[in-house]
Amino acid sequence: MEWTRSLSYKPYNQWSKSYHRELISEIQNSEWKLAFHILPETGLLNDPNGFSYYNGEWHLFYQAYPFGPVHGVKSWYHMTSKNLVDWKQNDYVLLPDSDYDSHGAYSGSALSVDDKLFIMYTGNVRNDHWERHSYQLGAWLNQDMQLKKFDDPLIPEPPAGYTHEFRDPQVFRYQDEYLMIIGAQTEDKKGAVLTYQSPDLMNWHCIGELDYTKEEMGFMVECPNLLFIDEQPVLLFCPQGLDKNIKPYQNIFPNTYVIGSSFDRENTKINDVSDLVHLDEGFDLYATQAFNAPDGRVLSVGWVGLPEINYPSFEEEWAHCLSIVKELTIQDNHLYQTPVSEMKDLRRSETDLNGKISEEQNQLVYKADENIYELLLELDTEASGTLTLFADKTNSSGLKLSYDADNHTITMDRSRAGISFGEEYGTTRSAEIRPEDKLKLHIFVDRSVCEVFINDGYRVMTSRVFLENADDTHVFLEGFKGAFSGNVWELRKMN
Ligand code: FRU
Repeated sequence: MEWTRSLSYKPYNQWSKSYHRELISEIQNSEWKLAFHILPETGLLNDPNGFSYYNGEWHLFYQAYPFGPVHGVKSWYHMTSKNLVDWKQNDYVLLPDSDYDSHGAYSGSALSVDDKLFIMYTGNVRNDHWERHSYQLGAWLNQDMQLKKFDDPLIPEPPAGYTHEFRDPQVFRYQDEYLMIIGAQTEDKKGAVLTYQSPDLMNWHCIGELDYTKEEMGFMVECPNLLFIDEQPVLLFCPQGLDKNIKPYQNIFPNTYVIGSSFDRENTKINDVSDLVHLDEGFDLYATQAFNAPDGRVLSVGWVGLPEINYPSFEEEWAHCLSIVKELTIQDNHLYQTPVSEMKDLRRSETDLNGKISEEQNQLVYKADENIYELLLELDTEASGTLTLFADKTNSSGLKLSYDADNHTITMDRSRAGISFGEEYGTTRSAEIRPEDKLKLHIFVDRSVCEVFINDGYRVMTSRVFLENADDTHVFLEGFKGAFSGNVWELRKMN
């Protein structure tokens, strides 16, 4: 299909039911279909939205374009879960059907208030010259899952000095008021985060730019999220066009964080702010959304994908998935991201890999039934070594994770992992671990995605992998020396 602008902005009700059914069967029959990750019902999924806990359930939405693998006119698709692992697919709930969101119901957040879920999101509108107008809009979701949009925008335009690159509001309760932060761009095209306050969720006042860095944050900041972990403020955000001298990166756009010692509400400032750190050191992670959950945890989920890259599944007319849900904690001023403990619920048969290393070759070979498993390895870091996932039986192809003992660096190489894509951004990614640490790899493999949690979430590396042969399910471990322990679990599919 030739995706012209007018086609990708064609109203949803002008697409035929039979075409939609075709798209459903494409994704259902795909060899790259995911077993326990959230994937789009059809078409394209991008940012997670409205992650919240309301009415006894977890709620999660995603940015959706249902009719193909392109960033067409967006809506919100709604899901609910009792355990953060099994997600019930509900429906498209926030559609681009008003004058304030005609060109997309863009990203936003949700907050449980009394017996309703408050939703704040960006309405994207384009005029005849394709110039953008961004409105910040509101809606209530009730216990019967009925959504009602507000008639008028909550914030009709950006404050003076800022452009209409103004989106992705994150609303949260802060002491005796509500605060909201939002991605913005100054008139001289610099990325910024603005802070708003409201006594009642209906009336919003801009209280200034969030002060969280001394550096320039590219030309636009998308998807900012302010969290409080043990009182410490953490800001997650996507600084588009960030200067690589400030922080080197290879992905088209980075997803980063800073941590501070405290939050100064009066001056809307994060005190004693850290340097910028990447949330994920892999190939495909963007637009992470997190929130302070009522059970005391801080939970996050990200979009496993990036804009402006052609992924192999586009040929099957679908695109992307969400990450598994992670818990965020802080130790020594560093953010740790670990899979939520509920992920254990997916475990089925367990294989103990201890003692399976062949002495003469110093090699471990394991063949999974399917590329749907969890792998936990603890390795000594005296000697270098390589782990290959998605490998064929001769270990000549696969996703390689190599540990370099001299530099305490782990490198992910996807140059020989299935169909190659996004090579213009490089085929390797590297992350450093602390020299004093052993290497602990906690890995989730799900057909066409791999999430690697290194040293209890000190680093995370996420990557899509599109195999040509689904039977390339071997795991090879070579090199390394000394103490070793390993376990692998087959995982069940999402219910
Ligand atoms: C980030 C983003 C957001 C926007 C949404 C549109 O990926 O560009 O800034 O709200 O996607 O789908």
